[in-house]
Amino acid sequence: MRLRLCLALLLALATGAAAQPAGDSAVHPELWPQLAPVPPRDPAIEQRIDALLARMTLEEQVGQTIQADIATVSPEDLLRYPLGSILNGGDSAPGRARLAAPADWLKLADAYYEANRRRAGTSVPLLWGIDAVHGQNKIVGATLFPHNIGLGAARNPELIRRIGAATALEVRVTGQDWAFAPTLAVVRNDRWGRSYEGYSEDPDIVAAYAGAMVEGLQGAPGTPDFLGPARVLATAKHFIGDGGTLDGIDQGDNRASEAELIRLHLPGYIAALNAGVQTVMASYSSWQGRKMHGNAALLTGVLKQRLGFEGLLIGDWDGHAQVPGCGPADCPAAMLAGIDIYMAPEQWRALYDTLLAQVRSGAIPQARLDDAVRRILRVKLRAGLFEAPRPSQRPYAGRYGLLGSPEHRALARQAARESLVLLKNDGALLPLAADSRVLVTGAGADDISRQSGGWTLGWQGNLGTNADFPHAQSIFAGLSEALAAGGGVARFSPDGRFTDRPDVAVVVFGEAPYAEMKGDLPDLSYSARHSEDLALLRRLAEQGIPVVAVFLSGRPLWTTPEINTSRAFVAAWLPGSEGGAVADLLVRAPDGAVRHDFRGRLSFSWPRRPDQPVNRGDAAEPLFPYGYGLSYAEGREMGLLPGE
Ligand code: BGC
Ligand code: BGC
Repeated sequence: MRLRLCLALLLALATGAAAQPAGDSAVHPELWPQLAPVPPRDPAIEQRIDALLARMTLEEQVGQTIQADIATVSPEDLLRYPLGSILNGGDSAPGRARLAAPADWLKLADAYYEANRRRAGTSVPLLWGIDAVHGQNKIVGATLFPHNIGLGAARNPELIRRIGAATALEVRVTGQDWAFAPTLAVVRNDRWGRSYEGYSEDPDIVAAYAGAMVEGLQGAPGTPDFLGPARVLATAKHFIGDGGTLDGIDQGDNRASEAELIRLHLPGYIAALNAGVQTVMASYSSWQGRKMHGNAALLTGVLKQRLGFEGLLIGDWDGHAQVPGCGPADCPAAMLAGIDIYMAPEQWRALYDTLLAQVRSGAIPQARLDDAVRRILRVKLRAGLFEAPRPSQRPYAGRYGLLGSPEHRALARQAARESLVLLKNDGALLPLAADSRVLVTGAGADDISRQSGGWTLGWQGNLGTNADFPHAQSIFAGLSEALAAGGGVARFSPDGRFTDRPDVAVVVFGEAPYAEMKGDLPDLSYSARHSEDLALLRRLAEQGIPVVAVFLSGRPLWTTPEINTSRAFVAAWLPGSEGGAVADLLVRAPDGAVRHDFRGRLSFSWPRRPDQPVNRGDAAEPLFPYGYGLSYAEGREMGLLPGE
């Protein structure tokens, strides 16, 4: 082991990484908690690994360490290249059809499986990983759970466990084995375009949820259900410190001290590891100027040795290419640092040749390759893949009724309901009487793609019309249903104009979908970028119509002018397929009873100013602190907020 770390160091020196500051990037594994591996090793599995390793050719071993994207690897390619896994990136789909039918996904899974088996040599089953980050969100008709930021507000780990289990089943339907979730980012600056992928700005909620989500996806370790047929592999990502980059820049530099890294960014991983998470994904980001994909001290010294992680460590999408001296097809430094699988979506062929040469030349010691392959085989054996039939023959495969099933949708609706946070409710405007005449307007009111955010059907979201979401309901449709049941009416008006004067207006507006770096912001001002929404709110308010604002967003944003223009203001985050959850909270039962009270409490501080990254415990005062959220039971008048 010492030899390996030395090699990595030499390599870093040779590639110029040492030109970066070294002093404060020193890692002291003894400061990190020591964890026992979960589950413990099974001698029978380790023996099978030994036997397999002894049989496998160098080519077969190297192939295990490469993951290609389905957009560039065909089933036929597997007849020749002994790759260990595939993924579909956010925009990759069978036949390049973004709205491919669920059956096409399963058919493709079978095609890869068959080709992989037909290749001569040692038969090692393939893994297929997918970004099932808020449900099986790439698949038409799947249940779309609220994005993690909303789940954080729900403060309900048991709910998270059930969401994990439902997601696992829906992933199984279309034939994948592995969810690239949960994201355990602790988001310290909401300018980050991935803020919504995180549960909270604070490690408490992330730690409380990480184990629940991992167990929901994988099953509980030590039970027969662990990695059983109803479960999939989970991924704790992105190790470590992805949510703490300077200025919230995606893939940027985290400058936290080692102690802060441990205090803020580690707790979620401890919980995930104790729950038996079998895969971890390295972060694109740097720590103290050094790319995580090349950081042997953190990936090997801390994660694998100190934290006892015995599963497989995967790189992010060409993440290795960002290590100094590396490119997409050439990066021994990443494997030397501890990466077991290169996510090499496009240049996997060239990488395969390079890696073969590097092991032959000794640039990558055989022992490191053995260790990587051992980990990959361990995960595959634990997951029962060697015994599993072709994907379509496995339990749950092809049971398309599970995608967006009534049970899963009810769970998603509960989750959405629990995630909404009531920021303001002056004059107890909410909940609305069921016989109200309601004007519904705003860009998010009748748009399921928009209420679902990024990582929905495609990488950036923003895809499909409401008809492309067969098991979903828009917020307007939900309001309409609830009001119709009570003798009221919801009228949708895209521009907010009306002929019959409404009793109240519900304006649904907010951020359009984005993912990763495309969502990075220079500051937190919503108002400055979306004057059209404020104008709409003002137009209604000036006509004396009470306004309920429902704000869709991937993070808290500076919205003081919008809050001041509205009588009630709801932070709805990205609720997903169940727009009806909004009506559950906003509209009374026909008999006047409150159907559901608000339970959501902020898991992110709400900014007082556009230039304010502010977190729980900071000296600076947010507009609404972490934990804030009104309820009908405990209302409160807000009046005009200062600072517009
Ligand atoms: C993201 C990961 C994701 C991977 C595969 C990367 O760009 O950072 O979170 O799992 O792509 O789509
Ligand atoms: C892929 C994503 C990936 C991203 C990385 C996109 O083309 O669809 O999955 O995370 O590239 O930049």
